[in-house]
Parts: sequence; structure tokens; C-alpha cells
Amino acid sequence: MNDDITQLLSELQLSLNQLTTAQQSQAEKLPILNQAANSNHLLSTLSALISEGNIHRSETWAAHMSPAISTTSLLGHLIAGLHNGNLLSPQIYPILASIEQQILDWLCNVFQHQHGHFVAGSSYANLEALWQAKQQSNNANVVYASQAAHYSIAKACQILDLKLKPIATDNNDRLLPTALQQACEDQAPLAIVATAGTPTAGAIDPIANCVEISQQFNAWLHIDAAWGGALIILPEHKSLFGELSQANSICFDPHKGWQQPKPASILLYQQPLKAMLDSNVDYLEFTPSNSLPGSRGGELFLPLWLTLMGEGIDALREKIRLRLGQAESFSSQLKQRTDWEIYSSPTGIVCFHINRSVDLTLLVEQGIFSQASILGTNVYRAVFASPNTKATALIAALEPYF
Ligand SMILES: Cc1ncc(COP(=O)(O)O)c(C=O)c1O
Repeated sequence: MNDDITQLLSELQLSLNQLTTAQQSQAEKLPILNQAANSNHLLSTLSALISEGNIHRSETWAAHMSPAISTTSLLGHLIAGLHNGNLLSPQIYPILASIEQQILDWLCNVFQHQHGHFVAGSSYANLEALWQAKQQSNNANVVYASQAAHYSIAKACQILDLKLKPIATDNNDRLLPTALQQACEDQAPLAIVATAGTPTAGAIDPIANCVEISQQFNAWLHIDAAWGGALIILPEHKSLFGELSQANSICFDPHKGWQQPKPASILLYQQPLKAMLDSNVDYLEFTPSNSLPGSRGGELFLPLWLTLMGEGIDALREKIRLRLGQAESFSSQLKQRTDWEIYSSPTGIVCFHINRSVDLTLLVEQGIFSQASILGTNVYRAVFASPNTKATALIAALEPYF
């Protein structure tokens, strides 16, 4: 990377270190007035706000999918804000538009799809993919997704007036292909949603079976890889995904498993999209008639682009391997130390059920673990989204409960 950017990054890193190690100040609830707020009060609120966000950089952060963000990504985020272009008018911003195309081409190649765009989160991606499915399929207005699928699928179906039928899962949170086959034989669906990285346990549905069944019943196959898609760049995990090119659409959130700031999500398609609007907007050169997003700029992709350019794909791979390794180490230490029931996944989420009446509410309140349920069994959930999260630190937090 050239010297100027390296210098900029180290200055940014220095300022960040100062900010993040600053004494925790008191957040004051400042009123919004006609005049600017008192600067000391404002600074103390900002300082408290930054301290609050430090939780994601902690070694014991395993509650949710929001990772620690690298300085390089943060620089990309700042530059995106500074630029503030709107790619509804790409001809005005040839550099930003060509970067967007470059990274989209790279992602299409990685996920074996033909085209797509960035969206502000996989909830939107799931909605848009099912919207396209509804436009393009002649089957009945029914969607099948596993009962472990993300709740945004249910929201999308409600918005689109589609009937969602949940498909049973196995003990590891994976969709049961026999149950899907049976449901399809009862009624051919408009779309099937396979989840690559379930929100609770991080399980990957049997994608090859879903492909086969969707083709048999002429249904649209959407893969929600919001969480698990991060592993696609690891050659040793590629077989988990099967033939992604056989799916009609796929979404993935770099803001989860690739340590990017929100919002950074992609939605990719295999075939051309159908327009949702039949008229053009006269003040725009290109009317976004076949996709959900309106205004959008570099905030969706510049942090990732700069990460890839500034650090290389290998560094990203290493960060993913690091967090997967910590998840594995946490799971095996729990197995050695306890008789708790452990649900491991390939994607860096470890859930555990405690038979005795041990209550980890205190650790949940501190953002160390979260709570969920798998097939009606209450579990604690450790999400290894951040490369900073350490198995030993989590085991140390659990020590008093062993
Ligand atoms: C599997 C899955 N799909 C979709 C989503 C929704 O993503 P977002 O929060 O970016 O809208 C999530 C969020 O956790 C998820 O885990």
C-alpha cells in the first residue's frame, strides 16, 4: 500500500487508540435546542458512546454477530461519508461506480452468480429475493424455509402476501430434506429458502438437497448466507456450500462475518431481474426499477473494497480462520470441563445447554453470551464474529459456574 495511505492509517489507528482507551465518561442526555450543545457535555457523551462500542473489541464479546471493525474498513467508511455520492447517478461518479462494479464482479465470481447489488442488510435482501421469486414463478404463493430460518423471511412473506410454511429441522438446526420433499409433494412452492448459517446455531442447511428439490418442483431457490457466507473464501470449507451456481439468488452480510461496518450486504442473482416498475423516473439516467434500494453510495462497499485492496484476501481468510479456531477451542474446552450439551457449527457459533439450574443471566447482561432455543431446548449462544473474541477469556468468565 502506498506510503500516504499507510501514514493515514497509522494516524487513524493512533487517534482510535486514544479514543478507545479514554476514561469512561458519563453520558448526559442532552436536549436538542436551537443552539449548539455545550461542547464539554457533548464531548463527555461522545466519549461514553465510544466506550459503549468498545464491547465489540473485547475478548469476551460473543453475544451477537457485530464484530470489531478494522482501521482499514473504518477508513473506507469515512471516505464513503466524505464522498457521499449517490450511485443512482453513476455517470457523475465514474471512480465510485467502477469500484462498485469491480467488487461486485469479484463477489459474483466468489459466490458463482451472474449479477447483483449491495443492500442495507440481509432483511432487505431476503425481501427483494422473494419479491423477484414472486414475479418470476408460476407456482402457488407458498414459500418453504426451515423453522430455524431468520425471522426476516417471515416478515418478507407477510409483506409480499406469501404463505410461509416452516420445514422441520434436525437436532443440529439443519433443515430436514425429507420434510422438504414431502411438503413439495403436497404443494409445489413458489420458492424455497435454504439458510447457510442459521441465526441461532450457525448450521448450514443441506444445500445440494435443496437444489435438487427446487429443480424437481420448479421453485426459486434463495440461499440466505447472511452469516455463513463468510466461509466461501476458505478453500477448506467450500464443500459446505455445494453448487451455489444452481441457486437463483443468494445474500451475504460482510458486516457480520467479514468484520465490515454496517450496512454492507450483497444480493446476487443468476438470471435477469424482472422490473417492478413499468415507468422511468425522468430525473434519473437509470431508474432502479428492478431492485429495492434507492439512494446508495460507497458506504455499502468502500470499507470492504479498501480491506481487500489494503490487506489482501489472505489476511481476511486468516481473520476468519482465527475466529473459527477460537470457536472450536471454546467448544472442545467446554466438552472437557463440563457435561453440558454442546451444539457446535462449522460457522463459528457454539450453543450450549446446561442441565443443572445454572443461571448465566449476569453474563448475558454483560454481552458475553446470548440466549436462544433449539427445538424447544433453551441454550446459551456464543457467536465468534470478531477476531478478538478468545476462547480462554470466555472459559474464564464461565469458571465460577463450572
Ligand atoms: C441468517 C440471517 N439472515 C438474515 C439476517 C438479517 O440480516 P440484517 O440484520 O443484516 O438485516 C440475519 C441477521 O442476523 C441472519 O442471521
